[in-house]
Amino acid sequence: MTEQNKNQNAIGVFDSGLGGLTAVKELNRILPQENIIFFGDTARVPYGTRSRQTILRYTKEDIAVLRQHPVKMIIAACGTVSSALGMDSPVEDMPFTGVVYPAARTACTLTKNRHIGIIGTPATIRSNGYVNAIHAIDPGIAVTAMACPLLVHLVEYGYTNRNNQITRLAAEEYLMPIKKAGADTLIMGCTHYPIIREIIADIMGEHVNLISAGEEAAKYAKKCLTQQHLLTDRTESGHNIYYVSDSVESFRENARHFLPDAADGQVFSLHI
Ligand code: DGL
Repeated sequence: MTEQNKNQNAIGVFDSGLGGLTAVKELNRILPQENIIFFGDTARVPYGTRSRQTILRYTKEDIAVLRQHPVKMIIAACGTVSSALGMDSPVEDMPFTGVVYPAARTACTLTKNRHIGIIGTPATIRSNGYVNAIHAIDPGIAVTAMACPLLVHLVEYGYTNRNNQITRLAAEEYLMPIKKAGADTLIMGCTHYPIIREIIADIMGEHVNLISAGEEAAKYAKKCLTQQHLLTDRTESGHNIYYVSDSVESFRENARHFLPDAADGQVFSLHI
């Protein structure tokens, strides 16, 4: 494949479910000419309650799905997968990023009091992925991390409205220790959480920086593609194609919370 052709390939993005659409949304905003191929493993979500071994096996299979298409970069738009991988890259022949390092880097830049909070799935917090990434950048930064087992389910069920009392109560329970510890920067370390950003912001207060891991991964991907001269030179808008391992109907129903355009987009179901 010539370099020129490679530039026209899509950016491959995968997630355990639909949270990764928060990264796709940002990619569409900052790289509107790029084609995106998204795979959401909706038949097996959530990953965040599973063992590292299972998460890594699923990761391999998700990447194999994306590799069936011409892609020039792969983004693991999933906090759980990225944390399980740590500093390892699961692909060697093209650029790859997870969400952990990009989010950690931005958090380290933004924190003024050198105290960062992290929320994520149980597997993410157990892995220490974000903590290790932060300390690799700056070992002196204090970190308070909380696993939030209920939040993914509440978001998937659409309990996302700012006034939803159930989600607010659950978020308060998880966020209070971080607030009390005094973190001035919070990594929303799971790609589902930006959907309830308003609730999180209400609880943390307006002085706390909120970092969306998916958005940071998208920005980091732009940087990688620019540095490696892999951006498309297309002038018209790119398009998104979505693949899911569960039904197209459930994708259309749930995707509107994450990326309204996706709900009416080109979606295919495949068996994994
Ligand atoms: N996408 C996952 C993450 O960002 C959340 C859902 C899951 O547990 O699989 O951590």
